Amino acid sequence: MTRRRFGHLVAGLGALGFLEPQFVARALGPAPDRLSWRAFRTATAEGHWQLTDIEGEVPRDLHGTLYRVAPGQSENHGVRLRHFFDGDAFVSGFSFREGRVDLRSAFVATPEREEELAAGRMIYSEFGTAAPKREDSPAGPLRFKNQPNVNVIHYDGRLLGLSEGGHPTAIDPATLSYQDRWNFKGSLPLFVPFTAHPKFDPKTGEAFGYGVTQGPGTALTVFRMEPDGKLHKLHQVPQAGYHMIHDMLLTTNHLVFVIPPVRIDMAMLFAGEATVAEALRYFESEPTRILVLRRDGSGEPIVIEQPATMVFHNGNAYEQDGRIVLDTILSPGDGALELLHAHASDRLPEVAPPRVVRLELNLEKRSVALRSEGEEEQEFPRFDSRRSGENARYLYTMESGIRDDPLVATHLVRHDLHEGGTARIGGTEGRALGETVFVPRASDGDETDGWLLLQGYDTERDENFLEIRDAGTLDLAARVWTAQHFPLGFHGNFVPDVFVASA
Ligand SMILES: [Fe+2]
Repeated sequence: MTRRRFGHLVAGLGALGFLEPQFVARALGPAPDRLSWRAFRTATAEGHWQLTDIEGEVPRDLHGTLYRVAPGQSENHGVRLRHFFDGDAFVSGFSFREGRVDLRSAFVATPEREEELAAGRMIYSEFGTAAPKREDSPAGPLRFKNQPNVNVIHYDGRLLGLSEGGHPTAIDPATLSYQDRWNFKGSLPLFVPFTAHPKFDPKTGEAFGYGVTQGPGTALTVFRMEPDGKLHKLHQVPQAGYHMIHDMLLTTNHLVFVIPPVRIDMAMLFAGEATVAEALRYFESEPTRILVLRRDGSGEPIVIEQPATMVFHNGNAYEQDGRIVLDTILSPGDGALELLHAHASDRLPEVAPPRVVRLELNLEKRSVALRSEGEEEQEFPRFDSRRSGENARYLYTMESGIRDDPLVATHLVRHDLHEGGTARIGGTEGRALGETVFVPRASDGDETDGWLLLQGYDTERDENFLEIRDAGTLDLAARVWTAQHFPLGFHGNFVPDVFVASA
């Protein structure tokens, strides 16, 4: 057996959980020695468990499931994956019912994953890692996976795994098994991928999504997600090239997009010489555009320009006296893109930190009336979803507290947007935290009436845990240990009254 074939065999077995990850790492060479790598490395088990190792007490009125999704591998059939976004989707569901916690976790068995497992080799390129070239396959464009590993939502009776690079992937909420690619009952065109960050308005029951058309006639296509499970097209806004548009904001009357000057070089991609990450270009001399559209599909787009900046995620937004006030996370330059691509490197580059920024838009003058900058090293903004589109008091973010490892969050920060100041928890040595999810206790309570759920990873125990914290005090109600290692991942959502099949 050649060294390469041995590597393929080892990594394939490792991805299925048949080999200890330390053994896989030895076969591929030394892995980076930092918390972000340990917390995001390949999942070591799939299955279902009733969790009983609990500090504190799980609130009995927490009733539903926290679903989260992650890139589930740091290597694939003998190839170390380079980018933070690489890896087959690994979905987890923590179900809470009368104080009992059931956990179910599994790789999403997409056709591409199954094809690679059957072949015993990496066939498809990842976002930032090319599949090895083979002498027996003709030269041509790289083949990419549609990886639903960025976010997971519950819509129209099913889970949708989302990636922004393709159509959603339908997943069974009880078993987490793969169902199908999802085109919203035929209403999502073939060459329009779907965002990883659709928005929901709990007051009206409306939902909105979008995608940037691939191919000629590139446009931002915006949809309302109808109760019958279909999409209704609201806007089609032409774009000069394939722009990366990762998130949007919702106000009472508008949809707002903060669009960085980042485009995919499609010619480079189709030439078959570059991954998507390598074909991403940041244009320093171009503005970051704030695009404002009406929610009802009427009117012309309003565009307000700001200096070039990188942006992935936004917080909340609201309207007041004809103005829109929004919170977003901005970082100067293309350092964030460089950092994500360096995930598997020995050392991460030093880059400018992302920070919370509040912008007040004057729609009539098409200008930014006010710009105020908040805390640094913040990402993954969330808020009480009952306050979507309102002047909410609190914004939650995850803070990176390790100077040479900004890919991992160590603290949860609550920003008081009315009174000023912050409160933070976390900072335990060797512990990483994932994005928080606010779960309201009731449909009509105030912003402190709920829980904050936080998935985390502990180095000493080499184990993931889930924290339940009181949203009013940030105090720990319960920390539930899983006895497993799962990659931490990026996003997730709580679904009331829906549960994984119990152990
Ligand atoms: Fe995201």
